[in-house]
Amino acid sequence: MAMKKITKRSWAEPYKIKVVEPLKMTTLAEREKAAREAGYNTFLLKSEDVYIDLLTDSGTNAMSDNQWAGMMIGDEAYAGSKNFYYLWDNIKKYYGHPYFVPTHQGRAAEHMISKILITPGDFIPGNMYFTTTKLHQELAGATFIDVIIDEAHDPYSEHPFKGNIDIQKLEDLIKKVGAKKIPYVSMAGPVNMAGGQPFSMTNLKEVKKVCDKHGIQLWFDATRAAENAYFIQEREKGFKTKSIEKIFYEMCSYFEGIWVSAKKDLMVNIGGIIATKNKKVYEEARNMVVVYEGLHTYGGLAGRDMEAMARGIEEMLDYNNLHARVGQVRYFGEELAKYGIPFVKPIGGHAVFLDAKKFLPHVKQDQFPAQTLAAEIYIDSGVRTMERGIVSAGRNKETGKHNYPKLELVRCTFPRRVYTQAHIDVTVESIASVYQKRKSIKGLKMIYEPKYLRFFQARFKKI
Ligand code: F0G
Repeated sequence: MAMKKITKRSWAEPYKIKVVEPLKMTTLAEREKAAREAGYNTFLLKSEDVYIDLLTDSGTNAMSDNQWAGMMIGDEAYAGSKNFYYLWDNIKKYYGHPYFVPTHQGRAAEHMISKILITPGDFIPGNMYFTTTKLHQELAGATFIDVIIDEAHDPYSEHPFKGNIDIQKLEDLIKKVGAKKIPYVSMAGPVNMAGGQPFSMTNLKEVKKVCDKHGIQLWFDATRAAENAYFIQEREKGFKTKSIEKIFYEMCSYFEGIWVSAKKDLMVNIGGIIATKNKKVYEEARNMVVVYEGLHTYGGLAGRDMEAMARGIEEMLDYNNLHARVGQVRYFGEELAKYGIPFVKPIGGHAVFLDAKKFLPHVKQDQFPAQTLAAEIYIDSGVRTMERGIVSAGRNKETGKHNYPKLELVRCTFPRRVYTQAHIDVTVESIASVYQKRKSIKGLKMIYEPKYLRFFQARFKKI
């Protein structure tokens, strides 16, 4: 009998399953009905009708037994909860910023930072837009300007740091509108809408230099910053032997302040952070949080939530955890590639983004190819994904016409520590079977459109 030779040593998750959550299995007819009733918008599906939920990695992560144990020692005092102080200690220790204001989630932090820093008529340069980030900047009266490198808009560029800021684009903007009209540069990493692509430490330092030269603040959307640190360690010269914790700390050190949606890297179901070195901004945020969120020692959170966040910070910087997290997403992408399915390269941190323009080339962009593809995948197998294309990009403020983004993507996002390799195999096979019948798929027509963040609630009809 021929014996298989060892050619590789695989990684596996550094945890095992203690509690399970049963999933409902549905029939094709049930899924067709559910999709129709949801207006072909995966955000409007009932979660119960979903088999494998790759809508988002936000608030959908599996907490550890250590985090659950922490929930039991929630100090639910209105003021001065001990969990708040433990969380604050960990923010100082790991993010390195002395001042901290909790919020109930990321967009609440974005709301306050935008209001505090922006004067109407300002410009905010950033490395590609994120939906809620840009909207809050606009609601505060600013215009968002994309200054990410061109490679980020090319789904097939293999640039290792597609989240980098184009220094020339940044300098050009400063020259054009003047530094006084730019209160801060808004940097995120990995960049969600670019496919989960990181920025490099080198680029960050260059951006910081430009900001310092012109007296512009540099702020960090550190929502998935632990993943960015992982990619720096993996790909950037000089970081191979540095710990994730050190890289993370150094990254954060270049920023005036950060905001975080704790629902991602921190592996909790709810929570947000503003942390900064800027005492003035801190004092304003601490004033404002009382109006919008709750007292400055809970910011819309229960004590137990803050305890889970504090413990989540410690877990998110664990190399083995990150290695399994990024490894799982990579496994999914590599399996998809075997079927010739087009997706954004390199494989990102939190998700694989299918290229709907290439997947459904016969569907015109104003017939919503990514929306269509997300609906078809759901109908095929009950796997829920998310549109990240023309629907997410919204309308132009002046002309009222659709924005036509270069990237028309379907995001398959992996909650941390939730799904197994078998779930991934089932998902890959489903997408491959939709790919095989792609020529018969027709686009959608929008029949209801909300005013803000339309992708959440828009409804569609099959053409
Ligand atoms: N910044 C980034 C980079 C995000 O990805 C998100 C949320 C936010 C800010 C806002 O945080 O949801 O806590 O209010 N992203 C989720 C997603 C919704 O599915 O990518 P939030």
